Amino acid sequence: MNDEYPPKRAADWSQRYRDHDTPWDVGGPHPELARRIAAGELAPERVAPNSTEPHALVPGAGYGHDALALARAGWRVTALDFAEGTKAAPARELESLGGRFLAEDALAFGAPVTPDFGRYDLVFDHTFFCALHPDERPRWGTMVDRCLAPRGELVAIVFPGGKPHANGGPPWGTELEHVLAALGDGFECTLHEPVQETLERRDWAEFWGRFRRNR
Ligand SMILES: C[S@@+](CC[C@H](N)C(=O)[O-])C[C@H]1O[C@@H](n2cnc3c(N)ncnc32)[C@H](O)[C@@H]1O
Repeated sequence: MNDEYPPKRAADWSQRYRDHDTPWDVGGPHPELARRIAAGELAPERVAPNSTEPHALVPGAGYGHDALALARAGWRVTALDFAEGTKAAPARELESLGGRFLAEDALAFGAPVTPDFGRYDLVFDHTFFCALHPDERPRWGTMVDRCLAPRGELVAIVFPGGKPHANGGPPWGTELEHVLAALGDGFECTLHEPVQETLERRDWAEFWGRFRRNR
């Protein structure tokens, strides 16, 4: 991603997609996600008491590659992205698999919590956290907490590791402690290890993290 281009607003992100200036786009699911799904990790698991099927939320989904991989693995996926043009390609297949793609502000999703707001068993984050300005990270943590069912899980590619904030962003430097600080003490990290299927184009470290909501 270009550090000298700090788009924060929907219009700026939309322009990036219109310009085909989307170096974050892998063209498919992140290979680490694909590897772990193939290995039997991330099998759909229901923790929310009020849902009949396992539901996953993918905020900042971009072209929806990861969302589709999870949907094909059996999750009912809600993908969120407010940039124009992201929804067109994945929406139909997501819907055919019982999911949906919403062109909405992911940070506001589910707020205020209403009685019919179904919480999610899984939130998957891939370059959404690091796309946000660090000042927005508390809102990201609140959103994850609001959207996850008790004992639900956040799975994230923690990236870019080792990048100082002085270098700017996006992607803004992301360490495990940044994710934990945003989530607050209602979460515990159950796994944090280097990604095996790294992307050559990425200059900074990638980790695979799992975080359990403990209340
Ligand atoms: C770096 S891209 C990553 C996209 C996708 N996760 C991927 O890995 O290809 C960040 C995405 O977050 C979206 N985004 C940023 N802020 C958002 C917000 N507040 N609500 C919804 N989408 C947002 C952008 O439009 C963009 O598609």
